[in-house]
Amino acid sequence: MKKILITGGAGFIGSHVIRLFVNKYPEYHIFNLDALTYAGNLANLEDVAQAKNYTFVKGDITDETFINELFEKNQFDGVIHLAAESHVDRSIHDPMAFVKTNVIGTVTLLNASRKLFAQKQKENKSFLFYHVSTDEVYGSLHNENEFFVETTAYDPQSPYSASKASSDHFVRAYQNTYKMPVVVSNCSNNYGSHHFPEKLIPLCIQNIRMGKPLPIYGKGENVRDWLFVIDHARAIDVIFHKGKIGETYNIGGINEWKNIDLVRLLCDIMDKKLGNEIGTSQKLITFVTDRAGHDLRYAIDATKLRTELGWEPSVTFEQGLEKTVDWYLHNQIWLDNVTSGAYQEYYEKQYS
Ligand code: NAD
Ligand code: TYD
Repeated sequence: MKKILITGGAGFIGSHVIRLFVNKYPEYHIFNLDALTYAGNLANLEDVAQAKNYTFVKGDITDETFINELFEKNQFDGVIHLAAESHVDRSIHDPMAFVKTNVIGTVTLLNASRKLFAQKQKENKSFLFYHVSTDEVYGSLHNENEFFVETTAYDPQSPYSASKASSDHFVRAYQNTYKMPVVVSNCSNNYGSHHFPEKLIPLCIQNIRMGKPLPIYGKGENVRDWLFVIDHARAIDVIFHKGKIGETYNIGGINEWKNIDLVRLLCDIMDKKLGNEIGTSQKLITFVTDRAGHDLRYAIDATKLRTELGWEPSVTFEQGLEKTVDWYLHNQIWLDNVTSGAYQEYYEKQYS
C-alpha cells in the first residue's frame, strides 16, 4: 500500500484533496498532517475520518524533530504539500508567520523528503514531492491581453506571495541540486465549500446571512480568476499521477471577475435562495479602504495542463457558485462554529 502524506489537509483545499484521494484510491494510505491553526478544521473531513485508509496527524511542519521522525517512521512514497498561511491580509499584519510556515516549513519538509528520497533510490523505489502553490507569485497583470503562463517571471507583491514564491524556488532548487523528483502547480483563486469566511466569497455569504456590510476594497475593480475547489483537487490528482517530474503546471478556469461584479452576482443568487426581493443584498455593499499593495489582476493560462494532461474544469462558474451557496446555506452550523471559533476549542481538547 502506498503511503501519501498530504499537509494542510484540514484546511479549505487540503480537505477536498484528502476526500478525493481517500475515496478514489483505497490502495493508498493517506496521512493528513495539519497543525490545526485557525484555518484548520477537522469538521471539514468528518465524512472520511473513519476511513481505513486515512490517518490524521496533528503537527507543525516547522518542527524539524517531529517531521524527521514522522518521515522515518512512515517512509512516505509521496508528499502533497498544501499547508500554508494563506491569507494576504494576515500577511500584511504579520509577515513573519508566513516566512515561518511557508518558507521554513517547506524547507523542513524538503529536507526530510531529501533523506527519504536517498533511501528510496537505494531500494529502487519512487518518490515525489508535489508542491501546491498560487498564481499570486507571478505578481499583478495590468494589460488585458496578458495571462500568467508557466514561464512568466516571478514578481510577488505581497508578503504572502513573496513567501510562496520563496517556497517554490526552494522546491525547484531541491530538484536541481539533489535531483529529488518534484512537481509544482500554481493555481488561481479557489471557491467552494469549507472555505474559511475571511476570504471574499464565504465572507460575503456569511455577511448577507447576518445582514452585515459587504466590505469591498477600493472600488472593487480588482480582477480574480476563480476556480471551483473540486476542480483544483481534480487537477492535483492528475498532476500527481501524470505530471512530468520537474515541471510546473498552471491551474485556472478562464473565469475572470471584477470583485464588484462577483459580489453583485453573489448578492442576487443569495436573494433568490433566501426568498428576498432581488437587490436587497446589494444594499449591503460597502466600499472600504483598499488593501495595501492590492494586486490589480490575476489571470491564468492553463493550456499546458489541458493539452498535456487532459484536465478540464467540471463545472461552469454559475454551477459552481450555486453549489457553493447551497452548501453554506445547508451547513450554517459549520459557518457559525467557524465564525465563533467554537470548532477550535473542541479540537484543542481532543488533540492536546
Ligand atoms: P487554508 O488556510 O484554508 O489551509 C491551510 C491549512 O494548513 C490549515 O488546515 C492549517 O491548519 C494548516 N497549516 C498552517 N500552518 C501549518 C503548519 N505550520 N504546520 C502544519 N499545518 C499548517 O489554505 P487553502 O486555501 O486551503 O490553501 C492551501 C494551499 O493552496 C496553500 O499552500 C495555498 O498557498 C495554496 N493555494 C490556495 C489558493 C486559494 O484560493 N485558497 C489558490 C492557489 C493556491
Ligand atoms: P481574497 O479572497 O482574500 O483572495 P486573494 O487576496 O488571495 O485574491 O480576496 C479576493 C479579492 O477580494 C481580492 O482582490 C481582495 C478582495 N476583497 C475585498 O474586496 N473585500 C474583502 O473583505 C476581502 C477579504 C477581499
